[in-house]
Amino acid sequence: KQKKRTQLTDLMDDVSEYYYQNLLDHPKKNQAVTYLKNRGLSGQIAKMFQIGFAPDGWQNLIDKFAKKDEILHQLLAAGMIVEKESDPKSNKASRVYDRFRSRIMFPIRNNRGKTIAFGGRVLTDEKPKYLNSPETPIFSKGQELYGLYEIKKYSKNVERIIVVEGYMDVVALFQAGVGYAVATLGTATSVTHIQTLFKQVDEIVFCFDGDEAGKKAAHRAFEQCLNEVKDGRQIKFLFLPEGEDPDSMVRKIGKDAFEEQVKQSKTLSDYMIEYLQTQVDVNSEAGRAKLVELAKPYMISLPDGIFKQLLGKRFSTLVGVELQFGAFEPTVVKTFE
Ligand code: CTP
Ligand code: MN
Ligand code: MN
Ligand code: MN
Ligand code: MN
Repeated sequence: KQKKRTQLTDLMDDVSEYYYQNLLDHPKKNQAVTYLKNRGLSGQIAKMFQIGFAPDGWQNLIDKFAKKDEILHQLLAAGMIVEKESDPKSNKASRVYDRFRSRIMFPIRNNRGKTIAFGGRVLTDEKPKYLNSPETPIFSKGQELYGLYEIKKYSKNVERIIVVEGYMDVVALFQAGVGYAVATLGTATSVTHIQTLFKQVDEIVFCFDGDEAGKKAAHRAFEQCLNEVKDGRQIKFLFLPEGEDPDSMVRKIGKDAFEEQVKQSKTLSDYMIEYLQTQVDVNSEAGRAKLVELAKPYMISLPDGIFKQLLGKRFSTLVGVELQFGAFEPTVVKTFE
């Protein structure tokens, strides 16, 4: 089974190399090169991320790689070609077609740098804008982070990692000199993602798009991360202005201003308290009592430690009652005068 997986990732590396070469010498490379340049990306960044080009046509990969039936099956298993439903009588090679056509290709690599999947973006405003590899024996969406391998390979002394939504956000940040962003691949942030990142750094900054979906993604990340906030670790949130994403933002304000915003981003405590304050009327006793009720599940999720105690103190001050958030529920210790 391990041998099969190695065969697949070896093949995916070859496919990635082929897409990348297309960017250099395919007859229609210009549309792809122009697209990347218009988005501010250099050839050097394309090389570092091995960004490539899947030209139009239904059989490019098949013609290039699947001389043998064995490879055809591997391309199918890796999700790079798709079987047609109809036409069961015709031969195998004519019943399959390339999944990715006329797209900019972003290879997703695992922590050893082996290609396990792709994201492909259209060059126009067609839909769907992004197409991703399906789940395969070598690719579990909820586990992988786009850009993590590249950080380890190219960035030294990384103190924090920024989590963004998209491929272009990661690459544009890298291009700007912010070489420490990763993207969750069109899925919500998972506990696995957070655990993976905390193996690399002590600080994670979530920076999603400045829209409703981005705010939802941040809240979901907030709920997922609580269990992992041990003392010594830090979670922060950078909320972008409406309509911006990290790519557009860093291109607008530049590296230094962006990094300043990253450093000044909202702490987990501030996020939690501000969020809860929007849910209740803190000017009334009933509202403040409800705030404690709403804070309970979050506080219970936090591992015991100094951070949890300090946050508990803030809640105590806020509601005017000294609270002790234990492992299971807050108990009133003593009231203020
Ligand atoms: N995504 C996806 N499938 C889609 C749309 C988005 O998988 N149909 C994922 C991709 O990983 C994409 C990320 O979500 O990179 C962010 O999506 P979105 O914010 O919509 O991308 P844009 O910023 O609009 O893309 P671009 O800047 O390339 O125009
Ligand atoms: Mn969009
Ligand atoms: Mn968006
Ligand atoms: Mn964008
Ligand atoms: Mn976006």
